[in-house]
Amino acid sequence: MEVVPRGSAEDVAALAADTIEAAVRARPATVLGLATGSTPLLTYQELIRRHRAGAGPSYDEVRCFTLDEYVGLPPGHPESYRATIARELTDPLGIPPERVQGPDPDGAGLPTAGERYEAALVAAGGVDVQVLGIGTDGHLAFNEPGSSLASLTRLKTLTEQTRQDNARFFGSVDAVPRHVLTQGLGTILRARHLLLLATGAAKAEAVAAAVEGPLSASCPASVVQLHPHASVLVDPEAATGL
Ligand code: GLP
Repeated sequence: MEVVPRGSAEDVAALAADTIEAAVRARPATVLGLATGSTPLLTYQELIRRHRAGAGPSYDEVRCFTLDEYVGLPPGHPESYRATIARELTDPLGIPPERVQGPDPDGAGLPTAGERYEAALVAAGGVDVQVLGIGTDGHLAFNEPGSSLASLTRLKTLTEQTRQDNARFFGSVDAVPRHVLTQGLGTILRARHLLLLATGAAKAEAVAAAVEGPLSASCPASVVQLHPHASVLVDPEAATGL
């Protein structure tokens, strides 16, 4: 694991975009793992800006997997992670929906959704670059504190803290789903390169616990310490606890 301090959130985004583009240039059929949330937005906007300027790589063969998904939203809900990632990244990059896959709460049934998603990841050859954010409680994807370090994709219940954190996307905390499907920590660890992005003072405590605290299910993001190729990109505010 490496911690990479940058001068600003924009610098974090530029370096993340450089890393993703380099992977796609080296292997056009790169498999990208994509996080939602506010943190990767600047990175996604930078990738789109470069793509539109003709400066980005070709995304013609790239495949994408999203990390997690809410359970119980009507199909096509704008805050579903499927709709969110299409709007914020893959549609603007010209990556068609059939090359973007997430845990599917509808389809062939919730009880087997995790297994089906894991099988799809394996069939694609695994994730090359996994973009990650971090929750204020140290969660990774939707692996809340207490999640097994070896867990695979499965159904989880959100903590009150995470529902409050995500209420801004839904108008009120009551509208935030209680259940989700999420890649497990064991799933995330299988990606070949982890790119954990953290910006802003609200993340300082979680970043310090993840990077310098003990490896513990109490801070799910601390699993990055186990990964041989994990890059934690932080802006000055998110680095204040280090
Ligand atoms: C969410 C997502 C995570 C994300 C995290 C932080 O609930 N499931 O994938 O990394 O919380 O979100 P944000 O970047 O908006 O702070």
